[in-house]
Amino acid sequence: MPGLTAPSDYSKEPPRHPCLKINSKEPFNAEPPRSALTCSYVTPSDFFYKRNHGPIPIVEDIERYSVMVSGLVEKPKQLFMKDIRMLPKYNVTATLQCAGNRRTAMSKTRTVKGVGWDVSAIGNAVWGGAKLSDVLELVGIPKLTSNTQFGGKHVEFVSVDKCKEEKGGPYKASIPLSQATNPEADVLLAYEMNGETLNRDHGYPLRVVVPGVIGARSVKWLEDINIIEEECQGFFMQKDYKMFPPSVDWDNINWSTRRPQMDFPVQCAICSLEDVSTIKPGKVKISGYAASGGGRGIERVDVSVDGGKTWIEASRCQKSGVQYIADGFNSDKWAWVLFEVTADIRQSTEIVAKAIDSAANIQPEKVEDIWNLRGILNTSWHRVKVQASHSNL
Ligand code: MTE
Repeated sequence: MPGLTAPSDYSKEPPRHPCLKINSKEPFNAEPPRSALTCSYVTPSDFFYKRNHGPIPIVEDIERYSVMVSGLVEKPKQLFMKDIRMLPKYNVTATLQCAGNRRTAMSKTRTVKGVGWDVSAIGNAVWGGAKLSDVLELVGIPKLTSNTQFGGKHVEFVSVDKCKEEKGGPYKASIPLSQATNPEADVLLAYEMNGETLNRDHGYPLRVVVPGVIGARSVKWLEDINIIEEECQGFFMQKDYKMFPPSVDWDNINWSTRRPQMDFPVQCAICSLEDVSTIKPGKVKISGYAASGGGRGIERVDVSVDGGKTWIEASRCQKSGVQYIADGFNSDKWAWVLFEVTADIRQSTEIVAKAIDSAANIQPEKVEDIWNLRGILNTSWHRVKVQASHSNL
């Protein structure tokens, strides 16, 4: 393992911000308080959710660290950090969201298996690195290729971390070659996050960032890139992160009947209020995030302060001073929008938010309708209860 090693225990984990809510210690899975999420368009690395399946790898010697690109290619190549840094550098603002975001709310309908996340298994960062399409050119695969002359159709990313789901083997995932070689898909081998060297929790020294796709495909601590014929056969592609209908349970599941989840669907959540909050009657600011996958923008965010009977359109914003237009030239197509509305609330009620993306996809109303045994993709309308109280808060 040149330069990168994977510990078998958790004794050498990096320091983390004390405000993170820890959902599991080993492996370390944590999210920021929801109120911190909408403080800024770009999420500081410290407050960015951390999703791991094993102990965090260690870089022993960055000079020796390399990524091997091989498989169904003409010229396999070992790439060192200096080779990757030599390629044109791109900064892509992209939202990463774990497929398990909002799982806790889904588990209230019926038990689901997985780490219990609130609404903050999501963050928006500026990722800096080389485009995968440029890297693949180094091994003789031209831009916009869906099939190599040797039959390669998928690009597999392999890490070094030891995951119990892989029986102690590394985390891996794949994306179609057509996406990997499309410069417009902005798939990165990132070595920077928010203008700084990627930190250990987020994949130092090099990670994949697949914008618009569930976080599970953005493999951290990259060691190998394999050009393969079929999609990756690893656990996290074939036995996890697939969306099943509510009728499927652990006794009748057939994993092979479903495709691995790639794009994430339209999502939004209120971050300025907890699930149950007490407010002073009067003007209340309601704010949160909305995001959609596949590069689709957010066309509208609707907020209701009467449990979903009537709706108010929220304002949407990405960068200050730039008007947000879904799919507009000046908008960050892979990034979330922050929304805000101020409403006059005089009595206890339920506040609801739902988003609509630029393809007019709309969040489903009820979590029951999208319940699935792994508790992924809970994109149901986000609801919070507020109790109006005149007493001093
Ligand atoms: N890559 C490796 N090597 N090991 C992992 O456990 N977790 C995946 C992905 N890449 C994972 C990984 C999942 S499920 C998600 S949601 C994202 O990383 C989380 O990235 P983050 O911790 O930087 O937020």
